[in-house]
Amino acid sequence: MRILLLNGPNLNLLGTRSPEVYGAATLEEVEGLCSVWAAEYGHRLEAFQSNHEGALIDAVHAARGSADAIVFNPGAYTHTSYALRDAIEAVGLPTVEIHISNVAEREPWRRVSLIAPACVYRIYGRGVDGYRAAVAHLHYRAAHPPITIGYGPLPDQVGDLRLPEGAGPHPAAVLIHGGGWTGHYTRDTLDGAAVDLAARGVATWNVEYRRIPPVGGWRDAVDDAAAAVDALEALADEYRLDLDDVTVIGHSAGGCLGFFAAKGARRPPARFVSVGGMLDLRRLGTGCDRLLARFLGDELETHLDRVDPIRALPCGVPVAAVHGAQDDDIHPGQSRRFVDAALAAGDEARLVDLPEAGHLDVIDPRSPSWEGVASACLDKPV
Ligand code: DQA
Repeated sequence: MRILLLNGPNLNLLGTRSPEVYGAATLEEVEGLCSVWAAEYGHRLEAFQSNHEGALIDAVHAARGSADAIVFNPGAYTHTSYALRDAIEAVGLPTVEIHISNVAEREPWRRVSLIAPACVYRIYGRGVDGYRAAVAHLHYRAAHPPITIGYGPLPDQVGDLRLPEGAGPHPAAVLIHGGGWTGHYTRDTLDGAAVDLAARGVATWNVEYRRIPPVGGWRDAVDDAAAAVDALEALADEYRLDLDDVTVIGHSAGGCLGFFAAKGARRPPARFVSVGGMLDLRRLGTGCDRLLARFLGDELETHLDRVDPIRALPCGVPVAAVHGAQDDDIHPGQSRRFVDAALAAGDEARLVDLPEAGHLDVIDPRSPSWEGVASACLDKPV
């Protein structure tokens, strides 16, 4: 695949422009990194930057014929340019909108994107690493195009369905992403897992959910994850899904949500698999405590028991907790204590300890540890 990387106004100043917001890397360095990331996925990337709207429009037009997809940081034109949106729409190339900073949590005018409706996906607030995520998203989208379906009326109540080959009925897996319930980590983090599991014969339903105010709060996150699992019933006939073989998979903060979705599902899933999951919220450790406080708001202590998996056992369906021993974000003790407590509460439960894996290896099919995660998700012995 040929990817065009487009950067808009003022991004030529990267490295010196508000480094506390945009980081220390120069544009040249960012472009170099993006070429490397594209090459890692087997793609070629060309980069262009301009401070002029017309030049960017021309570049989008020229991409027709010379590129297969676009990664686009339109800078402030994001918030003002219908002309750029028209250009993206007219050309019809899959385009990912990306912003280095967390535009959702800055000045209100930065929350508006006129470009978003023309783009296949939007990534923001992850620093320069967001460009890597954009390249990865285009890669996995091309490898196995998703069918994006709403399970509710709100923008975050959507999921990407990927069907395996064959007539079905297909076993299904609901994937619930992590990211500490922040707004800026979204379901693309599980694209690789979704594509890989689909290639192994499982229909994957990689879902979004509301998370933080004003878009949502903890109740919405819990409700949406549950609704996304229940939504499989409505999809089963059309997409030939086997409702007797459904796995709920949650990564990181999604592990916590997945637990409650599995426990409370209208039709109990066959199993729940936590991957590097937050399962013992009272003992998360410093970095995550801040995320938890933000998630639960003022009445943290009051709500904690209602979202803490280890306090809500038994789960009622077989559980596997997969955890990398090298996970520096979520301590492996989370999974260990959870499995011990689940067994004590009468659940069928097992721990899958991956000695080499870190927090993101467990969701990256390119990692040597992935085979262990996939086996657990497919309910095979590891
Ligand atoms: C930006 C965010 C825009 O609001 C801003 O005007 C930029 C950069 C970002 O990458 O975070 O120039 O797109």
